[in-house]
Amino acid sequence: MRTICTRFLSRTRKNMQNVLTRLNEAPRLWRDDRCMLNSVGERVGRKDVTLESIIEPHVGRIGGLIAALRAVQEARGFLPEDTEAVAAELFNLSRADVKGVISFYADFHRAPKGDSVIRLCAAEACQAAGGRALKAEIERMFALQMGETSASGDVTLEPVYCLGLCSCAPAAAIDDKLVARADAAKIARAVEQAKKERAS
Ligand code: FES
Repeated sequence: MRTICTRFLSRTRKNMQNVLTRLNEAPRLWRDDRCMLNSVGERVGRKDVTLESIIEPHVGRIGGLIAALRAVQEARGFLPEDTEAVAAELFNLSRADVKGVISFYADFHRAPKGDSVIRLCAAEACQAAGGRALKAEIERMFALQMGETSASGDVTLEPVYCLGLCSCAPAAAIDDKLVARADAAKIARAVEQAKKERAS
């Protein structure tokens, strides 16, 4: 009996390790855009994972709609056009209800973002410290406008309203890294660094 239990535990541990290893690979696989992992960590074709299968596990749960939308965004990188229709049907809501939730939260987006997201503070302290000129420089540097993604898909530029760095304005965030007393050179270096980290 003891031997059977030990074997069972060892097999379970091995399976769990396997799943964890594959889940750790997930970010690279999302970027790779050719495959993704299903809920048990198996590689499957991206198209095999339907919106229904992503949304359904959240139906009937408290806060399920937001969790479902987040899951879709995590899996696809953005909320595809048919998200509203599928979510409305599964949650028994109107499309307008789902649309209202999507548009209320700034973190939900309807188009794919660049590999790095530059969030530039557009609130007063940063504006007073040269935020407008910095915005123009960044737009020139990456050949885009505020709210857009560069043609290469490397960078998205978004406004944010205070990053809590008002005393070190102007401030920006590159993905999850804050940049105080930001200037174009610091932003370019941070974007380059983020690129290197993704590649490693
Ligand atoms: S106003 Fe820009 S960080 Fe606060």
